[in-house]
Amino acid sequence: MALERTLSIIKPDAVASGHTGDIVARFEKNGVKIIAMRMLKMSRSQAEGFYAVHRTRPFFNDLVAFMTSGPVVAMILEGENMILKNRDLMGATDSKKAAPGTIRADFGTDVEKNAVHGSDSPETAAVETAYFFTACELNA
Ligand code: CMP
Repeated sequence: MALERTLSIIKPDAVASGHTGDIVARFEKNGVKIIAMRMLKMSRSQAEGFYAVHRTRPFFNDLVAFMTSGPVVAMILEGENMILKNRDLMGATDSKKAAPGTIRADFGTDVEKNAVHGSDSPETAAVETAYFFTACELNA
């Protein structure tokens, strides 16, 4: 198995409801190494750029409004098969349909307020990690 890096974002709903620590602990208890972390409030243009792949979707404006509604915590996670492992830990996109014990089931509400984002492929992970963290920060 390959050592991979992926981007995780703790979304405004989970930060506002005080679950940042719970979600970080969930990763660490599952052997995930957190190699970068930053709390920030995304601007409208940052959120639009981050979710550009969804710009033609009907939920795009609501998604951007939600992601800019409060602070988020961006992290780079590292581990064996990390992209798929993160998706397993997160659960299904819609918190209402996510399996019990997953982050989205435990800390999210619905398909929009779903507590966390995670990259969905190696290609996306490379783009998304670079969107939030520079190479210099990772080597610091
Ligand atoms: P995320 O993993 O951040 O990637 C894109 C986001 O779009 C997704 O999580 C959801 O929060 C959101 N999303 C996907 N489908 C829908 C939908 N049908 N309605 C509202 N939001 C959605």
